[in-house]
Amino acid sequence: MKRVYTCFCTDVIHEGHLNIIKEAQKLGEVTVGVLTDTEMIKYKRFPLKSTEERVELCRQIPGVSNVIIQSQIMYDDVVKELHPDYIIHGNNWDDEAMLAIKENIEGLLDQYGGELVEVPYTYNEKVAKLDKQMREKLAMPEHRRGRLRKLLNLGVTVADGAEINQFDAMWISSLCDSTDKGKPDIELVDMTSRFRTIEDVTEVTTKPIIFDGDTGGMTEHFVYTVRSLERLGVSAVIIEDKTGLKKNSLFGTEVEQTQDSVENFSAKIAAGKRAQLSDDFMIIARIESLILGKGMDDALTRAFAFRDAGADGIMIHSRKKDPAEILEFCDKFREVDKTTPIVVVPTSFNVITEAELAEHGVNIVIYANQLMRAAFPAMEGAAKSILKHHRAKEIDSELMPIKNIITLIDEI
Ligand code: SPV
Ligand code: MG
Repeated sequence: MKRVYTCFCTDVIHEGHLNIIKEAQKLGEVTVGVLTDTEMIKYKRFPLKSTEERVELCRQIPGVSNVIIQSQIMYDDVVKELHPDYIIHGNNWDDEAMLAIKENIEGLLDQYGGELVEVPYTYNEKVAKLDKQMREKLAMPEHRRGRLRKLLNLGVTVADGAEINQFDAMWISSLCDSTDKGKPDIELVDMTSRFRTIEDVTEVTTKPIIFDGDTGGMTEHFVYTVRSLERLGVSAVIIEDKTGLKKNSLFGTEVEQTQDSVENFSAKIAAGKRAQLSDDFMIIARIESLILGKGMDDALTRAFAFRDAGADGIMIHSRKKDPAEILEFCDKFREVDKTTPIVVVPTSFNVITEAELAEHGVNIVIYANQLMRAAFPAMEGAAKSILKHHRAKEIDSELMPIKNIITLIDEI
């Protein structure tokens, strides 16, 4: 009996999957691999069912002899273990990631004469309806809000250099949101406008959203912000322990900035936690002690106080190029607290890798402004070129083709 293998990374079994199994059965004994949650998140999208539930789903498909867990998106381990005569797959190799997988499968099978069998991808009204229901579940606030917590529980927030990589969450930066609107980063862009940005972002991604809440404003206002963010499906807000006119942290002590007292800021966090309606929303406390030259002890005292006030995570910030003080903070915090998530924003200390940060107990790494800073010089360059040449021909080769830009965002 020949061995046939196929991998499913789906929450629902539809005709397309049944068709693959039917074709697979003609070739031999069928083993289905279920891709783990962590791999599915990294490579495709958030699963709506757990790995175990998806295993059970596959077990119930008639014609399936074995169900195993595939723990890597690439097939190396599975092929080594099963040595399948055939790997069967839909022919929907329609993006770079899928093509990388195809290449991986072919390379492995070539080594011993195995064969990749492609089955035409099934898409009909029924499948489309299921797809729509799944998208609804992915997009709606109550479903998306808990995704950051789930990610943290799974331990997948740090990219691990796999060949196919995605960012795990979206950061709604106050710096970028303000800059985009031609305003300084001083809490001038009001919450109504910031919420509008969140809505735009939810239009194009189902990834968890982390909102930069600046100082959180007055406690009496912050409680309303928490409720609004929950309703929008945001997973977490990060608020910084500053008061009065907020300036961007990367100014450091070059401008006047006032740190809030431990008591006031703890009370703000506690009020936010009391106001929160859902269990899964997170309030993360951001500590500015290192930015403002107040020292390590102050940073640590605050970290423990804010955690005790109810903060679901700690963000520690620094504007030094050397990551030493960040690492010292993380090590000292982790000596006492092994679980509270630590967030860092390595804008200045950009030599350190995610893996190194993870070794010191960091759970979330935010690339807060790099994409914005990449876009501006490109736009400036295009503007200068047009002004210099009085036509757009010279810059054209640097621009995204019209065909690509008009199809960048799918229509519903
Ligand atoms: C932001 O992105 O707005 C931040 C991070 O708050 S930083 O600019 O580094 O302060
Ligand atoms: Mg900010």
